[in-house]
Amino acid sequence: MMRLMSRRPFLGANWKMNPIPDGAFTSESPYRRAKNLDVVVFPSLLDLQALQSADIALGGQWGHENDTGAATGDISMMQLKTHGCSFVLCGHSERREHHHETDVRIRAMLLSALRHGLTPLLCIGETAVEKAEGRTEEILKTQLSTVSDVLKQDPSTVIAYEPRWAIGTGKTPTAMDVQSLHTFIRSLLPHPESTRIVYGGSLSSKNASEFFSQPDIDGGLIGASSLSASEMRSIRSILENVSR
Ligand code: PGA
Repeated sequence: MMRLMSRRPFLGANWKMNPIPDGAFTSESPYRRAKNLDVVVFPSLLDLQALQSADIALGGQWGHENDTGAATGDISMMQLKTHGCSFVLCGHSERREHHHETDVRIRAMLLSALRHGLTPLLCIGETAVEKAEGRTEEILKTQLSTVSDVLKQDPSTVIAYEPRWAIGTGKTPTAMDVQSLHTFIRSLLPHPESTRIVYGGSLSSKNASEFFSQPDIDGGLIGASSLSASEMRSIRSILENVSR
């Protein structure tokens, strides 16, 4: 099945709490913008400014729902926008787990992101225990239902399906499993045909082509592998070729 033209492929590099990888500023940088796909880097906040001079689309790893205020150590969606971001992650599982972010809070952050003209990547996914209990679909349904009115108003939000147990572990579901979960997720979306759904969790140049060739996987969100420019170049080239 052909991927719909309206779903521009997406490749996110989530650098988490790591420095800018070597090779990010070269003319052949694999992190630079592309013609036929969105390549977006989610750097540490401290590196946003340095990257603004490069031809790189930037995203925040997190943003507060309030514009300003007494929130020590935090940064608002408004500030991300003024510092050159056009995308932002909302509800990454490391934030859900380590910072106890709830679906209700994530909804508020999503609304704030949209109010400031940022494109959110809403991260959803089940834990290992929830998977073992056979509750994956139920979890995805709950995570999406809290924000379905927001997704209805603004169809630009990208969904990132990232099973918690696959992040940073080297373990992945099969591409067929992800394809069928993306079909399930799509069936719950208010704009099913046009919403991009990407996969994240231990993606690398070794497994990217299996995932990216599935009709309902519109790209990827890459953590560890995105810290190597050569890995990033290979993954980007796989997505570029698959999407032609
Ligand atoms: P990983 O991280 O590629 O290192 O598993 C993905 C993510 O957290 O977005």
